[in-house]
Amino acid sequence: MTRDNSLSGKVAIVTGGSRGIGLATAKALVDRGAATVISALHEEPLSAARRALGDGRVEAVRADVQSPQDTARLVETAIRAFGGLDILVNNAGIGRFGDVADLSTDDWNLVVGTNLTGVFHCCHAAIPQMRQRGGGWIINISSLAGINAFKGGAAYCASKAGLDAFTEALMQEVRYDGIRVAVVAPGSVRTGFSGRDEKGADWKLAAEDVAQVILDLVEHPTRSLPSRVELRPSQPKKA
Ligand SMILES: NC(=O)c1ccc[n+]([C@@H]2O[C@H](COP(=O)([O-])OP(=O)(O)OC[C@H]3O[C@@H](n4cnc5c(N)ncnc54)[C@H](OP(=O)(O)O)[C@@H]3O)[C@@H](O)[C@H]2O)c1
Repeated sequence: MTRDNSLSGKVAIVTGGSRGIGLATAKALVDRGAATVISALHEEPLSAARRALGDGRVEAVRADVQSPQDTARLVETAIRAFGGLDILVNNAGIGRFGDVADLSTDDWNLVVGTNLTGVFHCCHAAIPQMRQRGGGWIINISSLAGINAFKGGAAYCASKAGLDAFTEALMQEVRYDGIRVAVVAPGSVRTGFSGRDEKGADWKLAAEDVAQVILDLVEHPTRSLPSRVELRPSQPKKA
């Protein structure tokens, strides 16, 4: 992507920005001139992502979205380093799959704690800053699994369905503060999510396709609000 500076002066946070959809989104935002903070759990891939994003205004923070202390620190980093926060992309997510009778309580808590409660923690920390700033964007990365539940996906599908409802409620709650909230629900994206083998998966979405939707949202004119985007491969593999 070419640098066009349309987001120059804006400050963004992308959770789970060390790889996959999060890294592609951070690249897209940085290429448009946004100062960007990426976060993830593991130090080494996070540092590699920071380097890959180049010499621009980029910070990397090790922060677990399950921890309210970590997410508060993440938002504080954006404010300290770049003076505020305009765009929050709640992308960090995890999948653990298995039938309910076999799924451990730890796996259930990890999935719901990351994909749903983690988004609450980030929004809770970010909204006062956005209110002070007079507005902003919160984009939550859900999944088509939130509306198309499948066997073995109880934890993941429930976490994303919960995130869809959370996002709708939040959108109604903060819109008069100038904070625009949307959910993006992709189908299959070729990222190796949850240890998946992506051999022969050329039909899937690319992480950059999701990043493009996020850019389109933050650049969308303010009179209208595209509050939910479903993104599918144009020609999914035939069953
Ligand atoms: N890939 C798909 O087919 C697909 C489809 C629909 C929706 N989605 C959603 O899109 C989002 C990104 O998916 P992806 O495929 O790009 O995933 P990915 O490649 O597995 O990357 C996940 C990112 O989230 C971070 N992360 C995980 N747990 C975290 C936590 N507790 N705190 C902070 N960061 C955490 C990871 O950091 P570490 O590496 O440090 O753990 C990594 O940066 C997820 O919410 C996923 O549910 C994916």
